[in-house]
Amino acid sequence: RKRVVVFISGGGSNMLALVKAASEPGFPAEIVAVISDKADAGGLAKAAPLGIATFAFVRKDFESKQAHEAAILTELDRLSPDIICLAGYMRLLSATFINAYEGRIINIHPSLLPLFPGLHTHQRAIDAGMTEAGCTVHFVTEGMDEGPVILQAKVPVLPGDTSEDLAARVLVEEHKSYPQALRLLAEGKVRMVDGKVVVADIQG
Ligand code: GAR
Repeated sequence: RKRVVVFISGGGSNMLALVKAASEPGFPAEIVAVISDKADAGGLAKAAPLGIATFAFVRKDFESKQAHEAAILTELDRLSPDIICLAGYMRLLSATFINAYEGRIINIHPSLLPLFPGLHTHQRAIDAGMTEAGCTVHFVTEGMDEGPVILQAKVPVLPGDTSEDLAARVLVEEHKSYPQALRLLAEGKVRMVDGKVVVADIQG
């Protein structure tokens, strides 16, 4: 089974969805640790009782972005993950970091990328009059929310939706899409080659 480290900054509901999927028989990956950039991230307190190693690397404890990432990379050397899943990790990784795990870092974003990268995605989708929203799991490359797409799921935007309504509807799909995408990557059915997603054929 592939070793997975999940990065979070918040409540960790996607992290928990990955942990739950990984606990099913036959799932090709296991969650070996959760790393947060916030000491009080709700997800850390949810992962620890499940017997998952948790680590907080708080940015202000380090003198630079480079020093912060170096500390995380040192811990990752010990954990030796095959795959890193960003799950609500609200910090951009440097090229150095991404290159160290090239093709092995994936992210979930709550919009139908390339639409609405960045923050406040749901409000922006509503303000733009979109009738459809959704989530995207993609490989992480240097540009924010720019990497090639592994899979997407759609939901309707309903009249009168607040951003909270839409976020909740999208989150239900995120919790299904992220485990599906992790399974595809862990089974070698998708990979990133020259910045594009390659899907293995049936013979694999
Ligand atoms: C999720 O909706 C995730 O897609 C989003 O943050 C939320 C984290 O929730 N990520 C981003 O916006 C990244 N740009 P969670 O902590 O409950 O999984």
